[in-house]
Amino acid sequence: MKTVILKANNLCKSFVTGKTSLNVIKNLNLDIYEGDFTVIMGSSGSGKSTLLYTLSGMDSATSGTVSLLGNDITSMKESSLSVIRKKDISFVFQSINLLPDITVFENIAYCGYGVNKNKKEVNRKSLELLEELSLTEAKDKYPSEISGGMQQRVAMARAIITSPKILFGDEPTGALNSTAGEEVLDILSDLNDKGQTVVMVTHDLKAAARASRLIYLKDGRVDGELTLGRFSKESRKNRELKIFEFLDEKGW
Ligand SMILES: Nc1ncnc2c1ncn2[C@@H]1O[C@H](COP(=O)(O)OP(=O)(O)OP(=O)(O)O)[C@@H](O)[C@H]1O
Ligand SMILES: [Mg+2]
Repeated sequence: MKTVILKANNLCKSFVTGKTSLNVIKNLNLDIYEGDFTVIMGSSGSGKSTLLYTLSGMDSATSGTVSLLGNDITSMKESSLSVIRKKDISFVFQSINLLPDITVFENIAYCGYGVNKNKKEVNRKSLELLEELSLTEAKDKYPSEISGGMQQRVAMARAIITSPKILFGDEPTGALNSTAGEEVLDILSDLNDKGQTVVMVTHDLKAAARASRLIYLKDGRVDGELTLGRFSKESRKNRELKIFEFLDEKGW
């Protein structure tokens, strides 16, 4: 039996500008399972990013609830929520946003210090991550001195040094060339193989093929899903075809 790690119940998110209110997420119900690699797809403007921000507690819900391992984060005080944001969830975005004035190593370690006071341990883990993510040569460089693909791998290291319960990605490969994108996807697949729960939004079929489960969002509601099982390189073409057919049926 899979454990539900994140549960959205009648979730609504609206944006009010002046006198108009835009309902983006509409009474959405969704369970995310621990250990899954869940990918969310849907046309532009369907509410994917909004859903990700609301699910992760980065943005507040208008109504309904989101529970992380049974704890309703929509009714939490800001102080408790900020602990959860720091410890339990991490995010990688299309825009990478590393701190420009500190080195690659510092970008990673400083995030770790935020949740673990044992600096030695964090430093050791940072070095380990640099090696695992093929970033050792970039250790003492500044973000502007390395490629976009490397920068995104630093952002991944920064995101996982806190051992988050869920790693969220909003089109993390969106700004990368295909080789750099594949490297980031390989890291995500490896992490997921080791048990990391991943929830990622993407427009890209190749990225979506990494998913164990695909959720299709249409006009702020879940409009279907596809179960894909564990990713393997051998099954890639077959998975891409399955996803293509599913999306075609959905009118993507
Ligand atoms: N902060 C905001 N204020 C007002 N409207 C917003 C805000 N954020 C998003 N929206 C609107 O909500 C709708 C959904 O936006 P969202 O960014 O979630 O879509 P998306 O599915 O991620 O699209 P894309 O694929 O282009 O990234 C859009 O109409 C957008 O203009
Ligand atoms: Mg978006």
